[in-house]
Amino acid sequence: MSYPRKTRSVQLLFPVVAALAAALLGHAGSAAAQGTAGKPPAAVKTMQDSAMKAMEKFMAMPADKQNAYVKQKQKASMERGEVAFKDPRLGTNGFSCATCHPGGKTKEGSVPMGKMQTPIPSLQGVAAAFPKFKIGNDAVITLADMNNNCIVMFLNGEPLKTDSQKARDLAYYVASLSQGVLYSPGKQGN
Ligand code: HEC
Repeated sequence: MSYPRKTRSVQLLFPVVAALAAALLGHAGSAAAQGTAGKPPAAVKTMQDSAMKAMEKFMAMPADKQNAYVKQKQKASMERGEVAFKDPRLGTNGFSCATCHPGGKTKEGSVPMGKMQTPIPSLQGVAAAFPKFKIGNDAVITLADMNNNCIVMFLNGEPLKTDSQKARDLAYYVASLSQGVLYSPGKQGN
């Protein structure tokens, strides 16, 4: 069966136009966002609801309040992070991060790691290289993982849960020591 030329091109065009219209109306978008395979697990739903609630609360604020809110949250996290950095209770041997990295710098010298002596680095600029491969972990690790390495190896402490407030605050403080440094994940050496 053959169509006159004009009719055939209209037939070919129709699905394209229909898809475009659906996308413009937002149907394609919302279908993509929600997926098609049923409801999320209850725990996921709880997380979604909590995030939506926080966002709605934020959106209800006037713009200047929003800025102040974010600034305040970040400042509080930074302050808690700096306190944690100096807190020997992260470990069990009386050391804190600041024992070896005072003020985010280095106390110089080295520490024994197995049969090797490992120089104590300054933390200024180091966050910009994470995630990166660390031999001891045999993995590409995040900055929060690296902070945990030092807690375990040098403070004889339990690693922090990386989604805990304390781990996040500590990571934020350590990351702040790399303000303005070119972000270069994976960069090895100094
Ligand atoms: C006893 C000394 C000591 C203490 C205490 C210590 N560190 Fe370290 N830190 C080191 C040494 C040595 C290295 C180098 C180890 C390596 O590269 O694997 C290091 C490396 C790091 C690095 C990665 C630097 C890089 O370029 O890869 C970060 C980040 C870091 N420490 C954060 C911390 C934090 C946060 C704490 C406190 C929880 C802490 N350190 C406590 C000695 C210490």
